[in-house]
Amino acid sequence: MRKLKLGVLISGRGSNLQALIDACARPDYPAEIVLVLSNVADAQGRARAKTASIPTAVLDHRTYSNRESFDDAVDALLKKAGVELICLAGFMRILSDKFVRAWLGRLINIHPSLLPAFKGTNVHERVIASGERISGCTVHYVIPELDAGPNIAQAEVPVLEDDTPETLAARVLEAEHSTYPLAVRWIAEDKVRFENGVAVFAND
Ligand code: GRF
Repeated sequence: MRKLKLGVLISGRGSNLQALIDACARPDYPAEIVLVLSNVADAQGRARAKTASIPTAVLDHRTYSNRESFDDAVDALLKKAGVELICLAGFMRILSDKFVRAWLGRLINIHPSLLPAFKGTNVHERVIASGERISGCTVHYVIPELDAGPNIAQAEVPVLEDDTPETLAARVLEAEHSTYPLAVRWIAEDKVRFENGVAVFAND
């Protein structure tokens, strides 16, 4: 079975990376992780990759003079590893327009809200403060505008009366862990593709 080659970019905990590692471990899953790249040397996600014998690389953004030179280094490593699809998974750096345009349609992210609602950070605090009854997560193609690319997959979770940002985050995170591998599967199986700025689904 042909497997789509994934590069996963992380900065921290890496629980979504773990979900992708677990999915890729199944023989019938149409993707494999060829590189885990972190901008933080002691990111927990790196240990997860090492445990799974996946090659890792660290590029510390602080050692680059500007965003573009950091992104060029990231780009070079991904290409060298033969990456076909980049999965951002808690990667806390904004990528330059040049990088995003170069990987357009081959670069996806997971966000802990039902985009286009609640872009940006501190999502769960804002969801609770605005009295929402439903939240969730979104896997989307990345475009230069932050958290604005076309959606690939979403999952909803309820917001409960007594939720704190932490309890809501945990519920959303659980949904993330099944949604991210599902979205990657759809891409690998050509069920969805990026075309002219929109996500086109196979039976559209
Ligand atoms: C997730 O909530 C994801 O939606 C957001 O960053 C968090 C990363 O968590 N982009 P983890 O590192 O995958 O555990």
